[in-house]
Amino acid sequence: MAEVKAGIINITGYIGMELARLLHQHPKVKLTSVTGRSAVGQKVGEALPHLDDIKLTIKTELDKVDFVFSALPHGESAATVITMLEQGVKVVDVSADFRLKDATEYEQWYKIAHPAAKYLEEAVYGLTELNRDQVAAARLVANPGCYPTGAILALVPAVKAGLVEPDIVIDSKSGVSGAGRALSLTTHYAEVNENVSAYALEGHRHLPEMVQELKRLAAEPALSVTFLPHLIPMTRGILTSCYAKLKEGKLAGGKKGGEEVMKLYQDFYRGEPFVRVVSPPPQTKQTWGNNLCLIHPAVDSRTGRLIVVSCIDNLVKGGAGQAVQNMNLMLGFPETTGLDAPAVYP
Ligand SMILES: NC(=O)c1ccc[n+]([C@@H]2O[C@H](COP(=O)([O-])OP(=O)(O)OC[C@H]3O[C@@H](n4cnc5c(N)ncnc54)[C@H](OP(=O)(O)O)[C@@H]3O)[C@@H](O)[C@H]2O)c1
Repeated sequence: MAEVKAGIINITGYIGMELARLLHQHPKVKLTSVTGRSAVGQKVGEALPHLDDIKLTIKTELDKVDFVFSALPHGESAATVITMLEQGVKVVDVSADFRLKDATEYEQWYKIAHPAAKYLEEAVYGLTELNRDQVAAARLVANPGCYPTGAILALVPAVKAGLVEPDIVIDSKSGVSGAGRALSLTTHYAEVNENVSAYALEGHRHLPEMVQELKRLAAEPALSVTFLPHLIPMTRGILTSCYAKLKEGKLAGGKKGGEEVMKLYQDFYRGEPFVRVVSPPPQTKQTWGNNLCLIHPAVDSRTGRLIVVSCIDNLVKGGAGQAVQNMNLMLGFPETTGLDAPAVYP
């Protein structure tokens, strides 16, 4: 295949610029066109000096390309995505616009009527490890949210095997880039530094996405999920801790139960290039800048609970990296193409 021309709608946000960084290193795809509302007419390197090697001018509209990433906010993304689809261009939408299958649920959580509900059925939820074949055949992929990526991957092996009771708690800690680049009081340095805060106790928008996907794969349909996100003083990364009561009699007691659950997870993710079942529990810095999701399952034998800890970089596996992973499948390239850089450490 001739070199694929790719475009990014909105390079000026954190996800857009991370997409540009990854595509610049991609051996099969050439980034040829970018938009960005606040920097139209500027060279990429003028607006984003760390991307000075990308010799493109930021425009209002994309030039003709073969593949598009939309990194717009939800609500804004859908119309642009549809225009691209209608021109015969495949799209990965990194916004939330096509993730939920139910337009009523979208309206309930995002407080706007869905801008393009007729495309919801067609859109494939791009959690690559769980929907690989559908992603490969799709022309529209809805890239998962950052929190759902780490949480769903952490829970699926246990939920699918019917190992846990349906009452699940998901506790996540996110770096500040998860909130995007736009200024807000809650993400000021002085508000975040040396501080940790819980938010969205009334329900975070990523919760219905987690429930939708876990229910689809669960051994039994009833699931009750509490999700509590926290903002912590770091730039990138999400650490998620999941807790659920183990069903009676599913695992051996004591240390053996922990070994059994570790083996279940290792078998589930065997051969996955971007999911590693690790011991000891992972740390966010081990995923800085790479496309990995690191997962550590354990059993608290005192309480009979399963504990699963996962780590991702919200901007890579939780956003731009997973989008490139999906693009690779949609274009028939090996899934790992252009995504093999190790983490930046320390
Ligand atoms: N941050 C993450 O960890 C993460 C992870 C997964 C998915 N996502 C999703 O990815 C998308 C982008 O997120 P982000 O973190 O990159 O956000 P961001 O840094 O705030 O960037 C969003 C950008 O969208 C542009 N924009 C805002 N309103 C617009 C409008 N009405 N029309 C056109 N452009 C508009 C702005 O560009 P200008 O500055 O040029 O005006 C803004 O910089 C969102 O849908 C988000 O939910 C984010």
